[in-house]
Amino acid sequence: MKIFAETERLILRELEHTDTNDLFEMDSDPEVHLYIENNPVKSIDEITKVIEMLKKQYKENGIARWAVVDKLTNECIGWSGLKYFNQPLNKNNNFYELGYRFKKKHWGKGYATESSIAILDYGFSNLNVDKIFAITDPKNVNSKKVLSKLGFDFKETFDYEGDPTDWFELKKTTWENKKPNR
Ligand SMILES: CC(C)(COP(=O)(O)OP(=O)(O)OC[C@H]1O[C@@H](n2cnc3c(N)ncnc32)[C@H](O)[C@@H]1OP(=O)(O)O)[C@@H](O)C(=O)NCCC(=O)NCCS
Repeated sequence: MKIFAETERLILRELEHTDTNDLFEMDSDPEVHLYIENNPVKSIDEITKVIEMLKKQYKENGIARWAVVDKLTNECIGWSGLKYFNQPLNKNNNFYELGYRFKKKHWGKGYATESSIAILDYGFSNLNVDKIFAITDPKNVNSKKVLSKLGFDFKETFDYEGDPTDWFELKKTTWENKKPNR
């Protein structure tokens, strides 16, 4: 199993089928899905398909959302990572987008920010890009706080399949000059 990064409290590695129960606990929670299509999963089968899709992305793109594992308990507490877009979105194409999702019981502990710092370090060092993007529901205050702490700039609200969606970007130069400590 490939480990991509390690932080003070977390290990970031590829998601595996052994993470199924943890992802089901997270993704069947309506509060977790409130600002992401509001359609929590109802069956283990849906999670199996998600993990298959991620394994395909690891193979094709070398990167995708990673499992975030608590070093002390070995629990997979959620995922965080870069998704490669090779289809146009909001006038951009061939770009990486940062995303994160955690079990509700692990919100408010700084894990989204801590994992994202390691991911952005990895992205700007290993992928040949000068910008990384992020998108979020304008009402998703928790997510927007994470992006702001990381140094992302809000650019505009655009129409994402009928839903108003906020578009953020982080320049490599900004990251190198203003990287947060954690
Ligand atoms: C979005 C989401 C990942 C944010 O998680 P989060 O836990 O609120 O984010 P952070 O990791 O930045 O932690 C937040 C708080 O932990 C607190 N915290 C507690 N212990 C901490 C520690 N040791 N280190 C750092 N922060 C700590 C911080 O004070 C911070 O609050 P603040 O920003 O008000 O100061 C989470 O709400 C989630 O999973 N939502 C559902 C899925 C979703 O909407 N994903 C985003 C789609 S765009």
